[in-house]
Amino acid sequence: MDSGATSANPFFHPTILIYEGGAAPRPLVEFSMSDIEQTYTGPERVFSGVQPSGNLTLGNYLGAIKRFVEMQDRHDCIYCVVDMHAITVWQEPEDLRRATREVAAAYMAAGVDPKRSILFNQSKVLAHAELAWIFNCVARMGWMERMTQFKEKSGKHKERASLGLFAYPALMAADILAYKATHVPVGEDQKQHVELSRDIAQKFNNDYNCPGFFPLPEPVIQGVATRVMSLRDGSKKMSKSDPSDLSRINLTDDHDTIANKFRKAKTDPHPLPGHVDELKDRPEARNLLGIYAAFADEELISVMDKFAGAQFSQLKNELTELTIAKLSPITDEVTRLMADPGEIDKVLEDGATRAREIADPIMTEVRRIVGFV
Ligand code: TYM
Repeated sequence: MDSGATSANPFFHPTILIYEGGAAPRPLVEFSMSDIEQTYTGPERVFSGVQPSGNLTLGNYLGAIKRFVEMQDRHDCIYCVVDMHAITVWQEPEDLRRATREVAAAYMAAGVDPKRSILFNQSKVLAHAELAWIFNCVARMGWMERMTQFKEKSGKHKERASLGLFAYPALMAADILAYKATHVPVGEDQKQHVELSRDIAQKFNNDYNCPGFFPLPEPVIQGVATRVMSLRDGSKKMSKSDPSDLSRINLTDDHDTIANKFRKAKTDPHPLPGHVDELKDRPEARNLLGIYAAFADEELISVMDKFAGAQFSQLKNELTELTIAKLSPITDEVTRLMADPGEIDKVLEDGATRAREIADPIMTEVRRIVGFV
C-alpha cells in the first residue's frame, strides 16, 4: 500500500511532514503474504482517541488535540475519549467519570466541534469491545510482547500487569477499524500501536480471505510537537505519569504555575542556536523552541531565527506569555463546560449514536466474515 506520502494526499503536506517511512507493513512471519492486492476503496476517515487518566498535558494538546481541530475542516473525523483503555490500570470510578467528561470538555474547549466531528466515549459503543475480542484472536502474542508501551507501563513486574494492559493494542486497532478509519493523528509515542493496527488489519484480511475489507490505517504524525519532552529532562517524553509535576504543563495549571514550571525548566549553559543542526545535542533547547513554534503556528526555523543568540531566560519569558495566552481560553472554557456535566453527557450520547450508525453495519459484515451465526 502507498505510504500516503504523496502530494495528492492532503494529510502529507510536504513542508510539515516529519513522519518518515514506517508506513509500509513490516513482514509478518506468522503467515505468508499472498499476491492478493490489499487495496481498500472506501472513504477516507480520521479516528483518534485520548485516555481519561490523570491530567491532560501540553503534550496531549500540542501533539494530538490541537491537530484534531485542524483536521476537521477537510475530513470526516471521529474523536473518542477512550475510557476502556484507561481501566487497563486502576481508576477510581468517580475519578474516571470526571476525567471522561473533562477530556470531552477539553476537546470542545480546544475547538473540536461536536456537530461537525463525532465526539463520544468508547464504552458507549459496544463494537469496540466486540471487535477487540476478535482482534485478540487475530493478533499474536509475539506482536504484543514487542510493544514498548507495555514494557514501560508494566515495569519489572509483568506478571502483575492486567491482561487488558497487554491486549491494549488490539483494542486500539478495534477503535480504529470499527469505523474503517484510514488516518490516525497521534503523537510519536503511539506510532508503534498504529503500525500494529495495520498488521492486525492485514492479517484479518488475509486469514478470512477478504482483501481490502479493512483499510491499513496510516499514522499521521506531523508538525513540530509530535514528541513534547519533559521540562526536567529533554530526553524523556512529557507524560502525565511522570512523578514530578514540574516535568509537565497540565491543561489545568494556573498562570503562576505555568510561569514557575518554565522558569525551573532544565536548560544548558549556551545561548540559543540559529541552525537546526545545532539542536542535535541540545534537547532542552529543541523542546522549548518546538513548544514555542507549535503554539505560534510557525516553522521551527523561523522561531530559531527570532531567538538566535538569545539567552534561555528570554525564550522562557516569551514562552510563558505565549502559553498562558493560548491555554487560558481553553482552561476557562473547560471550567465553564464542567459546570454542566449533563450537557457534556448529551454531547457524548449524541456522538455515540452517530458512531454506532457507522460501526454497526461494519460489525454485521465482520460477524458474517468470521462465521458467527
Ligand atoms: P494518550 O491518552 O496517552 O495520549 C493522547 C494523545 O496525545 C499524544 N501525546 C503526545 N504527543 C506529543 N508529545 C507528548 N509528550 C505526548 N504525550 C501524549 C499521544 O501520542 C496521543 O496521540 N493509546 C492512545 C489512545 C488511543 C488511541 C486509539 C489513539 C486509544 N485508541 C485509537 C488513536 C487511535 C493513548 O494512550 O494516548
